[in-house]
Amino acid sequence: MSLLADTPDPPAFSLRLREATSAAHDQAESQQFIQMLMAGSLNVRALVSLLESLVPVYTELEEQMKAHTADPTVGLFDHRALDRTERLCADLECFGSRGRMLDSPAVSAYVAAISESAASPHRLLAHHYTRYLGDLAGGQAISRLVQRHYGVSADHLTYYDFSDLGDTHHYRRTYRALLDLVPWTPTEQAEFIAECEVAFESNSVLFAELGECCGLSMGERSSIGGIASAETRHTMVLNAPDGGSRRGRQGRRGDRGARTPT
Ligand code: HEM
Repeated sequence: MSLLADTPDPPAFSLRLREATSAAHDQAESQQFIQMLMAGSLNVRALVSLLESLVPVYTELEEQMKAHTADPTVGLFDHRALDRTERLCADLECFGSRGRMLDSPAVSAYVAAISESAASPHRLLAHHYTRYLGDLAGGQAISRLVQRHYGVSADHLTYYDFSDLGDTHHYRRTYRALLDLVPWTPTEQAEFIAECEVAFESNSVLFAELGECCGLSMGERSSIGGIASAETRHTMVLNAPDGGSRRGRQGRRGDRGARTPT
């Protein structure tokens, strides 16, 4: 038997990617804001703030994708059924939102990172992967939990509805298979991973900022079902335009700590 036959194949790029970004993913996922939102400990206003801040992010990402769709690699992943900007705007209208946050350093930095990444197709695609595959994975759990906790109907959360893609598990598998097939150089693969880390970090910073707006302590990471002090919770409920939904407050009791994976 030759030496070559004994050498195991290196892991596929998509597996290395998942491994390399798992710490950055965990960091984003464990932010107090998103944990408390999922646990039903915040309110509809917090959800609306999250959706508002994502509008400029998707606007930039989708404009850049359209602008670079002639690139063969970008074109491979550029599917209009993924587009979220119009859906986000329609959802925000249902909530009576008058628009996005006027001054958000976290949103500005995230948008700037996407804009800069567009200088190279693989770096732009890193933002594409992190956003849409995140929406198709953990985003689906977020959607189910906020509907349940805050009594929000699915019609108001079309942002999380990817039914136009068909079988979303199959879509994610195909996406990862395509990532394995793209003939990127090792340097381009390393830059893709590094840009994914930028994207995860951008989300962590955004969650920290949103948490601060809700009166949570800045940068503090959540234990599962993060606990706000009674005073903090009071402030958040008072800050909600609807005073916090009744269903939301009831739902918190039974569901605190829920962290449902897809
Ligand atoms: C509390 C929030 C979150 C939860 C509960 C969550 C949960 C999950 C789960 C369960 C998976 C599937 C892992 C697997 O298939 O093995 C996943 C994958 C992923 N998540 Fe998250 N996530 C969260 C936040 C985020 C954020 C903020 C982002 C970035 C915007 C993100 C991006 C991703 C990506 C890119 C994947 C890989 C998907 C794939 O390869 O198919 N996640 N997440």
